[in-house]
Amino acid sequence: MEGLRLNAPAYVKNARLLAWVAEIATLTEAKDVYWCDGSQEEYDRLCQQLVDAGTFKRLNPAKRANSFLACSDPSDVARVEDRTFICSEKKEDAGPTNNWMAPAEMRGLLQTGDKALFKGAMRGRTLYVIPFSMGPIGSPIAHIGVELSDSPYVAVNMRIMTRMGRAVVELLGTDGEFVPCVHTVGAPLADGQADVAWPCNPTTKYIVHYPETREIWSYGSGYGGNALLGKKCFALRIASTMGRDQGWLAEHMLILGVTSPAGKKYHVAAAFPSACGKTNFAMLIPPQSLNGWKVTTIGDDIAWIKPHADGRLYAINPEAGYFGVAPGTNFKTNPNCMQSLGRDVIFTNVALTDDGDVWWEGMDGEPPAHAIDWQGKDWTPQIAKETGAKAAHPNARFTVAATNNPALDPAWDDASGVAIDAFIFGGRRSTTVPLVTEARNWMEGVYMAATMGSETTAAAFGAQGVVRRDPFAMLPFCGYNMSDYFQHWLDMEQRLEATGHTLPKIFCVNWFRKGADGKFVWPGYGDNMRVLKWMIERVEGQAQGEEHFFGISPRYDDLEWAGLDFSREQFAGIIDASPAAWREELKLHDELFTQLAYHLPQALKDTKARIETHLAD
Ligand code: GTP
Ligand code: SPV
Ligand code: MN
Repeated sequence: MEGLRLNAPAYVKNARLLAWVAEIATLTEAKDVYWCDGSQEEYDRLCQQLVDAGTFKRLNPAKRANSFLACSDPSDVARVEDRTFICSEKKEDAGPTNNWMAPAEMRGLLQTGDKALFKGAMRGRTLYVIPFSMGPIGSPIAHIGVELSDSPYVAVNMRIMTRMGRAVVELLGTDGEFVPCVHTVGAPLADGQADVAWPCNPTTKYIVHYPETREIWSYGSGYGGNALLGKKCFALRIASTMGRDQGWLAEHMLILGVTSPAGKKYHVAAAFPSACGKTNFAMLIPPQSLNGWKVTTIGDDIAWIKPHADGRLYAINPEAGYFGVAPGTNFKTNPNCMQSLGRDVIFTNVALTDDGDVWWEGMDGEPPAHAIDWQGKDWTPQIAKETGAKAAHPNARFTVAATNNPALDPAWDDASGVAIDAFIFGGRRSTTVPLVTEARNWMEGVYMAATMGSETTAAAFGAQGVVRRDPFAMLPFCGYNMSDYFQHWLDMEQRLEATGHTLPKIFCVNWFRKGADGKFVWPGYGDNMRVLKWMIERVEGQAQGEEHFFGISPRYDDLEWAGLDFSREQFAGIIDASPAAWREELKLHDELFTQLAYHLPQALKDTKARIETHLAD
């Protein structure tokens, strides 16, 4: 590659960056190289280019100003967990929950072999250089990445999801460190070959991480976490290994601020699996009857959490935007979210209405009489009734800047982060798991998080509604051996206790218990404030609860019911921890512990034995 064709702006001074861009442009045989500066002018220009290419439809500006709709290839609609690899030198370091391949073998497949997938993969396409910061630019807890992608869709999404552009390159200076992230849609174009609206490789996908050298290589998908490499690949899989080595935590957690009627501010971080309610909980508006309480958003998906010299854990949101689930979002379930979506949004895989707006299942009001579904077909309520066709894909998403959120916390961009008062872990379980349980100590909380189960959702390719163990909501995102990760969490206790400060409380929740009619019993959404209020009052040592075999749960009279018609019987049905059901549940913990036997902390086995003894009584 000639220096000229590298097209590097004068402000690029980092020799390693320049050499690497040249190397990847040569390997992939990209048509040309474009350096993203992150400006509004550039964003607008790339969006128009995507409109001209047929990838984007511009929505009716009177309804959604400066907003676009992209519809993906049906083979490319969610994360591909079975195509995601952790290529550590040793298989044990990836652990039994990750796909593993030896680094040399994977490099052969992707980079060096005769038929290496990245060779010529960008033929006919522009290579976009996308410099980004996870966390506020220049913050001591932020980390820089550079994504090289042949997808302009990725470039514009990254501008919303991260701090992206020239300022990051300037911060890199001559020898700053960055995590190299290479991404191709895996669809090279021959001379004169016309492009398609959503280029991807329908049959071959690889989402690859090298934790030791901190590299990410993604092939064949243009969608979400497969392609926006700052998110799951960097901020969770690579960052979790950085956190293990450096003594901090990278978690699949929302972060919210909650202010009590007395005006005291608390911060809570909560881990729920994909499509299990993080965005909703982070933007919660309390019901009228609890309107002395206020919730503000710091983050909706990822938290980087570091122990501070004062003995507390401080959390930042490394992202700058939300890539959130559209279906089910409406003015009743999540008004703050709906208000965020009025302008400057990229929608992916929702339906297009005849007046140039978007629609998805579960939006307010009547469904449109006619729309174009996410696959470009005619959709009417009648067709839906007859065929079950969905207008929006169940994993349809919006990409929007955090600054669009009316409930954004003033500290969301604060480089030092916010001090965490409580952690919440929660899965999607139609049975067995109570609405809320408080762990009596750190160990018990780590056990709850480690053994958490959840019904699978549309956020990942594969069967849905199947209960699987999803430890810490990190099953698809932990970049190393899960048992070592448990130990890392256990070690935090001593580290923090040494300072004499009280540890954050740990709770486990389940909004998703179903009744005999198959419907959710708990109203959820804003009413989750009732549970959050109880937790905060437990932190303050005010609210009461009842101890049972694995923790403390509220009795009916321990929760605030004003403004909600919810009977004692209904409550009994979602708070009970039936010993019979839990004997079955413990068998699933057993399976998990057998799978994770290598390096499984003894303390977790002891805790399980204690619960079993209680259940036997
Ligand atoms: P990722 O972005 O995939 O990590 O997901 P998330 O955890 O942010 O999930 P999100 O908040 O987008 O919720 C996904 C789905 O769960 C949506 O369809 C919501 O309507 C639904 N949901 C969220 N909160 C609740 C709740 O309290 N009760 C019920 N029944 N459904 C909920
Ligand atoms: C998730 O699946 O947990 C997401 C969406 O947050 S994606 O970024 O596609 O992974
Ligand atoms: Mn997520």
